[in-house]
Amino acid sequence: MKAVLAYSGGLDTSVCVKLLQDKYACDVVTVTVDVGVAQDELREAEEKAEKLGVVRHITIDAKEEFAREYIFRAIKANASYEGYPLSTALARPLIATKVVEVAKEEEAEALAHGATGKGNDQFRFEAVFRSLAPEMEIIAPVRELNLTRKDSIKYAKKMGIPVPVEIDKPYSVDENLWGRSIEGGILEDPSAVPPEEIYQWTKVTKEEAEDVEVEFEKGVPVALNGEKLSPVELVERMNAIAGSHGVGRIDMIEDRILGIKARENYECPAAVALIKAHKQLEHLVLTRLELKFKAAVEQEWSELVYNGLWTEPLRIDLDAFIDKTQDRVTGKVKLRLHSGSCRVVSRSSPYALYSERLASFDDVTLDQRSVEGMLRYHALQASLYQKLRKD
Ligand code: ARG
Repeated sequence: MKAVLAYSGGLDTSVCVKLLQDKYACDVVTVTVDVGVAQDELREAEEKAEKLGVVRHITIDAKEEFAREYIFRAIKANASYEGYPLSTALARPLIATKVVEVAKEEEAEALAHGATGKGNDQFRFEAVFRSLAPEMEIIAPVRELNLTRKDSIKYAKKMGIPVPVEIDKPYSVDENLWGRSIEGGILEDPSAVPPEEIYQWTKVTKEEAEDVEVEFEKGVPVALNGEKLSPVELVERMNAIAGSHGVGRIDMIEDRILGIKARENYECPAAVALIKAHKQLEHLVLTRLELKFKAAVEQEWSELVYNGLWTEPLRIDLDAFIDKTQDRVTGKVKLRLHSGSCRVVSRSSPYALYSERLASFDDVTLDQRSVEGMLRYHALQASLYQKLRKD
């Protein structure tokens, strides 16, 4: 049987190649989808796959598609789950889609992934696999064989698979353009303070505060400090700038799909900075009612995506609503970055609903006396209720 495996070159997926060959008697095709990982990791993944004896290894550069079709949607949706700006969750459906495409070209019978039976990624891979290729078999060796991380490390050593992690530093890292997630080892104790070694993207290297101006067009960022950038360049640049001020470290307890509470650490400087700027611009141009309704839509969108239901029509319907709200989300926002903090210090838009004259203490455009009628009945029902109580 021929199986196409979503392959990162990390511990779990390398172990999966061998397990698929030895325990499932499969010919293995590995697919590495580049959603923004280090270039040397891609090369290492390829070399490793070949050493493991795959019939074919394919690397797909999906950075541009990831930025345009996934990250930009996440910005428009201010996508966050319990305070986690969706990153792993956002990339999984794209990776799974590419794996299905390769499997169809290769006329494979099975789709495989290296996710465990405890996490969220199994749901995300399999929801897309079943939506796009219901005729194919799904193999999840780590879950099916009930392997622990220690089992995987031992098996890898036995089979001569180079192990990138050690028993005493067994971090599981997932990285893409929009964020970096670090789990495992000492981090599994929620009372343990994360050691500095887990961080790579967020280190304070600049002493002075720095201002960055983000320009948005219809809800998506198009320029930084006046320089037009492609979606990928812009996100990479923002990660570097905000990361150099230590912005974007998140340490949280997260409710996984299964109900397990997990301690999660994230580094996502661009996501934190760009979503903050985007939200402020929305507050300038959208009405109070639009903002209130959109917040509920954002919550629903984020939960759907967190839960792996990217292919669900409701997600697509919600995106249509979100896109419509972004027609006027055009303008500039200035962020001030300094030693871990990121705040909005300026915003402007040709579509601003803000009226300086209406808001100013020094203007008479709004005759204050005309508000009296509105005030009189503002608490009408409350006053009827209170009267009733006294009687
Ligand atoms: N908890 C995050 C999510 O479900 C990250 C999961 C993957 N992280 C990892 N280090 N393997 O989206």
